[in-house]
Amino acid sequence: MSSNTRFLFFIFSLLLTLNSVFHIVSQTTPSDSDASYILACGASTDAEDTDGRTWKPDSQLLSNSGNSMILSAHVQDPSLPSTIPYMTARIFTSTSTYKILVAKGQRFWLRLHFYSTSYGTLDPSKSYLDVIANGFTLLHNFSASITAQALTQVSIMKEFSLVPAQSGDLDITFKPTLEQKDAYAFVNGIEVIPMPDIFKPAPLVGYNDQFVEVESSSFQTIARLNVGGQFILPTDDSGLTRTWYDDSPYIFSAAFGVTYKADKSIKIQYPSNVSKEIAPLDVYNTARSMGPNANININYNLTWVFQIDAKFTYLVRFHFCELDLEKVNQRVFNIFVNNQTAKENADVIEWAESQGVPVYKDYAVYASDEDLWVALHPSVSTKPQYYDAILNGLEIFKMNDTRGNLAAPNPVQSPMPIQADDAPKKFRPSRSERAAHVIGGISGGVVGCAVVAGFFICFTKEKRKGDGNPSSRGNWLPLYGRSHTSTSNSTTSGKSIASSQLSSVAAGLCRHFSLSEIKHGTKNFSESQVIGVGGFGKVYEGLIDGKTKVAIKRSNPSSEQGLDEFLTEIEMLSRLRHKHLVSLIGFCEEDGEMILVYDYMANGTLREHLYRSNKPALSWQQRLAICIGAARGLHYLHTGARYTIIHRDVKTTNILLDEKWVAKVSDFGLSKIGSNLHQTHVSTMVKGSFGYLDPEYFRRQQLTEKSDVYSFGVVLFEVLCARPALNPLLPMEQVSLVDWALHCQRKGILEDIIDPHLKGKINPLSLRKFTETAEKCVADQGLDRPTMGDVLWNLEFSLQLEKTPEQPKMVSYNNADDTYATYTAMSGTDEDSFVSLEK
Ligand SMILES: *[C@@H]1O[C@H](CO)[C@@H](O)[C@H](O)[C@H]1NC(C)=O
Ligand SMILES: *[C@@H]1O[C@H](CO)[C@@H](O)[C@H](O)[C@H]1NC(C)=O
Ligand SMILES: *[C@@H]1O[C@H](CO)[C@@H](O)[C@H](O)[C@H]1NC(C)=O
Repeated sequence: MSSNTRFLFFIFSLLLTLNSVFHIVSQTTPSDSDASYILACGASTDAEDTDGRTWKPDSQLLSNSGNSMILSAHVQDPSLPSTIPYMTARIFTSTSTYKILVAKGQRFWLRLHFYSTSYGTLDPSKSYLDVIANGFTLLHNFSASITAQALTQVSIMKEFSLVPAQSGDLDITFKPTLEQKDAYAFVNGIEVIPMPDIFKPAPLVGYNDQFVEVESSSFQTIARLNVGGQFILPTDDSGLTRTWYDDSPYIFSAAFGVTYKADKSIKIQYPSNVSKEIAPLDVYNTARSMGPNANININYNLTWVFQIDAKFTYLVRFHFCELDLEKVNQRVFNIFVNNQTAKENADVIEWAESQGVPVYKDYAVYASDEDLWVALHPSVSTKPQYYDAILNGLEIFKMNDTRGNLAAPNPVQSPMPIQADDAPKKFRPSRSERAAHVIGGISGGVVGCAVVAGFFICFTKEKRKGDGNPSSRGNWLPLYGRSHTSTSNSTTSGKSIASSQLSSVAAGLCRHFSLSEIKHGTKNFSESQVIGVGGFGKVYEGLIDGKTKVAIKRSNPSSEQGLDEFLTEIEMLSRLRHKHLVSLIGFCEEDGEMILVYDYMANGTLREHLYRSNKPALSWQQRLAICIGAARGLHYLHTGARYTIIHRDVKTTNILLDEKWVAKVSDFGLSKIGSNLHQTHVSTMVKGSFGYLDPEYFRRQQLTEKSDVYSFGVVLFEVLCARPALNPLLPMEQVSLVDWALHCQRKGILEDIIDPHLKGKINPLSLRKFTETAEKCVADQGLDRPTMGDVLWNLEFSLQLEKTPEQPKMVSYNNADDTYATYTAMSGTDEDSFVSLEK
């Protein structure tokens, strides 16, 4: 079963499995001599997760298990990393305590796992819980449901480092939050992992010679990044089963620096005062530096920004290992934390004494706001050989306050993560139809579930109640660096929020419009000028300078969605110019408005020429030419610019057509830059549009350009079959276009489902080449999918077969690069029409 089918299967099987499943509890516990405890709460037997770690039942460690019950989740969200420990939960309706024996004087990690979904008849939004461990308040009024939605994550993990109790006992108490009526508490998994004492008193930034005391403090992990490197699984960590994430989602602005990996000749050697457990080798053997150009480096800070809880002290740990240079005073830099100097003239070689030797430094900072900024800048005062900086790893830990508290309010709702499909209203299922497909109770649940069938989300968008306390997202999966600046802030503080966050390059490359110019050009945002409505807001047709027709995209001022997407789009599009990418003319941000001005695309979106409109059907040759254009635009994004750019939201409504039917890829709001040097993927939250989402990206949350190839394959099928990628009103096996088309393809009856307008009018060879290409694009594994260059070549070939079936002019090559070279050579001057402004 493909994962799409599996996904739908779970949703529909929901209808059948309303009854909660109770497990008989059999009693097995870890023996007391076990150093660590990995507990699947509510499980009846030992079970392995997908990483091969064994989880044991929790019941014997619970001192008063009568106060709790065991329930299973109804729905297995496809982005759950594993069924263990998430599919069963222990539910607490009153105070219950786990009593766990730990070695005396031993510091340990405590990890709590939550999967917010419906258990039995319980409403996930009704769960609010407190967790207290050895006298430290770890969580208070914690809602897994609110947190999961705000973070767009299905499961939540909270990691703490606790100080040993003198007795050697660890008491973990769960209770429903008192202030919340009818609340219940729950937990899916608990890990207790002994750890070496890795915390030492750290200098408090901004206070001369003051150190924070760490010995009696507990910590919560806020971020753990393998800077310039890849995601590291718990099982690949050096024994402490930590997860390390890619740092790029946290980088502020478009200045990403460059990443690199240790040369094979460099052998990383831990010195005697750095334990291997501090961080695994993979953290030290990749790094990010500012780049080769001293003039550029001297003018910017390599900056990461984190969303944190205000009014706590944070310990920031920098991991360094020089991989390139060998001498003192070659690369010297300053380290800033929250705009204050944490360290002047940092020189990794001076600290480590040699290349390939890890060293780490801790700095503590008291944060009064909800951001934590970390920045590196070349130091000039020591006249180093290079103006550059380097970082290999970064960890951020929150320290308990003076009352032993680590808890903070729930995050505020963030904008909907997965863009609504912009289907016209009349085609959306009515509320009752929707209820027939998705059980109502789910809507309060996990985002991944609530949006299953694409369209539904359009009207489940009403704000869910938060606790009214704006606060950070006390979690540490990648979040976008700038995502904390909500639109509501920008409206109150007036203009310039966006431009102050734009890089000077972007701001310099595109035009800044005044609001009055825009109002004038759109007849004061007259409804008669509206040419489209999307997740972002409305798109108007307008005139600028009294003569030039433009498309004006105005973000809905009341929606919280947008500032990030707005900035990303300006950053991306102002640097990219290509015949097959929509051109950004400029932007306007006044009075809290976020407005983008584009070239006008006379023929609208590709989708409106495929189905659900009364426009004349496109011929096969026209369709091929459009697909080829869009493929060229994407190919350019993947390979033509300085960085690999992953579009992330390829779909037929993001392929626009100008007056000459030239296809242009649009909507870069979700795009991500991956460095093309050593990084092969970007690990990130799943965003995109349902029906087009790469199943592999969904499973592993790691983005590569092959995710765009997958989405493009869906587009190809859509072009061929003239139906939406997902149509929940169809019989179950037909809901997903990809699944249905692959099924028909295998049965040899694909011809039956193609657009009736095309039947009998396509050269069979051309059709075969096209469908083969589409099929390869939607391969389950990214590795099995072709590159955009291959796709392009195959589509060109399909067009040749259609035009001159007797003598196709193109020769097939096996090697992807060769094919592309041939193809560009043959397609002549067309590619000359683009210039990349970023070099
Ligand atoms: C880098 O950050 C420091 C500390 O916030 C700031 O003082 C400095 O102006 C920044 N430099 C640049 C070039 O942005
Ligand atoms: C380890 O020793 C080196 C050299 O004496 C020193 O510079 C460094 O600060 C020490 N500590 C750590 C944690 O690297
Ligand atoms: C954390 O809590 C402990 C126990 O209440 C206290 O001794 C310690 O000072 C606290 N840490 C900080 C940084 O306030």
